[in-house]
Amino acid sequence: MSTRAWDASTYHTISCPQAAMAEAVLDRLELRGDETVLDAGCGSGRVTAALLDRLPRGRVVAVDADAGMVAHARDALPPDRAEVHQHDLAALVLAAPVDAAFSNAVFHWIPDHDALFAALARALRPGGRLSAQCGGRGNVARVQAAADAIVASDTELRDHFAGWSGPWHFAGPQDTEARLRNVGFTAVACWLEPWPVSPDEVETYLRTICLGPYLERVPEAQHAAFAREVAGRVGGELDYVRLNIVARVPSEAVD
Ligand SMILES: C[S@@+](CC[C@H](N)C(=O)[O-])C[C@H]1O[C@@H](n2cnc3c(N)ncnc32)[C@H](O)[C@@H]1O
Repeated sequence: MSTRAWDASTYHTISCPQAAMAEAVLDRLELRGDETVLDAGCGSGRVTAALLDRLPRGRVVAVDADAGMVAHARDALPPDRAEVHQHDLAALVLAAPVDAAFSNAVFHWIPDHDALFAALARALRPGGRLSAQCGGRGNVARVQAAADAIVASDTELRDHFAGWSGPWHFAGPQDTEARLRNVGFTAVACWLEPWPVSPDEVETYLRTICLGPYLERVPEAQHAAFAREVAGRVGGELDYVRLNIVARVPSEAVD
């Protein structure tokens, strides 16, 4: 499970790129408007609100592991139509199955995709659909290379990263399709989509979103300098590559 802490209110303000990415992921759910939908990794609730807009007669079950994100999402969402739970998605057990599951910009923060997909399959009713997007193979490779190079060039910093297994799990489409089928999903399709992002304030963006797992190992007094140095090396455009995922659990009759 991801252990980094998020700055939920800053994330809420600067996550315009994530909100834009989410639109096509939501389109692929093809909602009628009366379903109950899981938002797997709801963050601050900004994208959850866009999901709720598509559910005028429906409800959202929003789940996130981070206490600050959960508190922010609870404030941001109407309590009569959205329940927000703090939980690790890889060990998720819902009180009742949902009609569909949606997730945006979350799965790459979770190391164990087998456990994650098994939990999502359990959370869906028979015939329930999953539409998700996360960072995929090659995502922010230039950001990672810049951050890794800064760490490697500084002996003191290097000590803070000793034994570290790395920040993200950027999976490929074939591996992901196989994992989804292994836990019982059908009608599975996964594909990569380059999505360059040019944030308004690159340093703040990097500090709040991409560099979190690095910065929790860098002494606090060096956070600003670390983010500035990464921003200087990557320039204004971040090389996002998204992994799109659609799948369905079988209906009760074999299909
Ligand atoms: C980049 S934010 C995306 C939030 C939101 N879906 C959006 O599109 O704005 C990633 C979120 O994944 C959550 N997350 C990471 N690992 C998780 C886990 N194991 N279980 C639940 N949530 C997790 C983080 O707490 C964070 O809120």
